[in-house]
Amino acid sequence: MPDKSVSYWSDSKQGLRAVELRAAGFDPSEAGQTNAVVTIANAYTNAHRCNNRVRRIADLLVDAVSARGGQGLLVGAPAVSDALTQGTENAGYSLVSRDLMADCMETGHYAHHGNAMIVVSGCDKTGAAALMPLARTNAFGLVVYPGTSSPGRVDFEPWASKGNNLTIMDYVEGSAAREAGRISDDELLSLQRCVMPGSGTCGAMFTANTMSSIAEAIGMMLPRGASHPADYDAASDIHDDVKNQAQASVEALYGLMQKGIRPRDIMVREAFENAVTTAYAMGGSTNLYLHVLAIAREAGVAFTIEDMRRIGARVPLIANLQPHGAYAMVSLHDVGGVPVVMKALLEAGLLHGDVMTVTGKTLAENLADVPLPEDMPDQDVVFPVARPLAAPGNHISVLSGSLAPESCLLKLSGKTLEHGEFRGPAKVFESEQAAMAAIRDESVVAGDVVVVRNVGPVGAPGMPEMVHLTIQLQGRGLGKDVALITDGRFSGVSHGILVGHICPEGARGGPIGAVRNGDTIIIDPRTRRLDLDISAEEMAARMAQLPAPALSAVPEGSVLSKYRRLVSSAHYGCVL
Ligand code: FES
Repeated sequence: MPDKSVSYWSDSKQGLRAVELRAAGFDPSEAGQTNAVVTIANAYTNAHRCNNRVRRIADLLVDAVSARGGQGLLVGAPAVSDALTQGTENAGYSLVSRDLMADCMETGHYAHHGNAMIVVSGCDKTGAAALMPLARTNAFGLVVYPGTSSPGRVDFEPWASKGNNLTIMDYVEGSAAREAGRISDDELLSLQRCVMPGSGTCGAMFTANTMSSIAEAIGMMLPRGASHPADYDAASDIHDDVKNQAQASVEALYGLMQKGIRPRDIMVREAFENAVTTAYAMGGSTNLYLHVLAIAREAGVAFTIEDMRRIGARVPLIANLQPHGAYAMVSLHDVGGVPVVMKALLEAGLLHGDVMTVTGKTLAENLADVPLPEDMPDQDVVFPVARPLAAPGNHISVLSGSLAPESCLLKLSGKTLEHGEFRGPAKVFESEQAAMAAIRDESVVAGDVVVVRNVGPVGAPGMPEMVHLTIQLQGRGLGKDVALITDGRFSGVSHGILVGHICPEGARGGPIGAVRNGDTIIIDPRTRRLDLDISAEEMAARMAQLPAPALSAVPEGSVLSKYRRLVSSAHYGCVL
């Protein structure tokens, strides 16, 4: 890529540049004096509460850059909300949008001759995409998070005892409970009105907050920037902590430019190890696997699913956040945010303290004055490493076996299986909708293993999240008694006995295609295996007769058809 410098305009094109600037509403003489062209890359939309505050933040950043003598240029990208797409025929657009956003931000940055970049993230995939163009372009830069939604409360059980910690998860599980006749219409209406009083991303350790925590832990976001509430309520201005982060981020950017610190000086291998360690300790979403692998590829860091498995296997769960724990994300913010988690991990020798961050200081320097959880007696949001919520190996495990020759992910969210393994008969479905119909008509019963196949990155295409299935199982009280395995993926909201990301996927001839109704499936985290309980000879015979998978129809030329042609497996992060 050519070097993008402001001096580009000091040649014979200066006159044309002045024409263009004036017509676009800039003062050419002011713009000519700029000390940096800063791309303000943002995925703004008024379509959903996850990213509807992004334009306000982007405008603040432009003003703050201007006050420092720079020129902030807005670059847009589509922000897809999982809440609006999950369970619909457009669900595949969610993961597809990650790479599309990264491409938009790269394109705008180079086309406008940017020297630096601040990315405003938000909903799940925008959080993943935020680090990709920074790693790809290596332009001076960092990430600003628009914030998460504040929690709510209701006065009836089982939710009243959760206090002011209700999130979107409580509403969707309440909705399934209503369908199963376990709560009343009025109670569901109360949940609907109370769980999310303002805007922001889904309010606990779901995928958006997993990715904001990763951005902070990897060193690309200012400390305590991953956990703030987006606002005070839906009618208010953005939260003061967001305004302060935006202002401080511009100051930090100028510090990075002065010191010559670029994203690839920060996103080194040890920083990726720190990010995965922190996300595991916080109980992050399974989606972190896809996104960390994709970001590492952009940063030129050799980092594999095996590296992530190895790191995850030694990290205890210490953050008491939903979906595995009691609290919403802003409760973590109130006790000090992600730095409190990282301090505990650093003291336990689980983090590299000598890596650089966007403060211009090392991680250890950033955490010097942060207290340890054991020295904060009035809180139970972050547990000490010596007394964790769950021992290592009980959150997300990477398995393989006859059903997943490459890999798959088991999410137990801190639970231990009662018999050490889960063994049950398969009920096989070729789509999320067919599985949903079976759960609703109660033909899925305790002990079953629900198999949903041909919903992977190629099959769907776009690897949709099977979240509505997991919500139905939880809402019907089957979360501990029914396992769900799929070549699709899960939302951070999903919890239960869940195996996703099965590779190779059905659409690429994976053995999940050979499963028949009634086959016994064994999920064993102790041996890290996912197996079909048939002989090797029987499996070979079935594989030899495997019919070509029926791919869902997508219009030729659509982004989905291009994605299907280019995407790699989940084992490699679904990179293009
Ligand atoms: Fe946007 Fe959850 S749907 S963060």
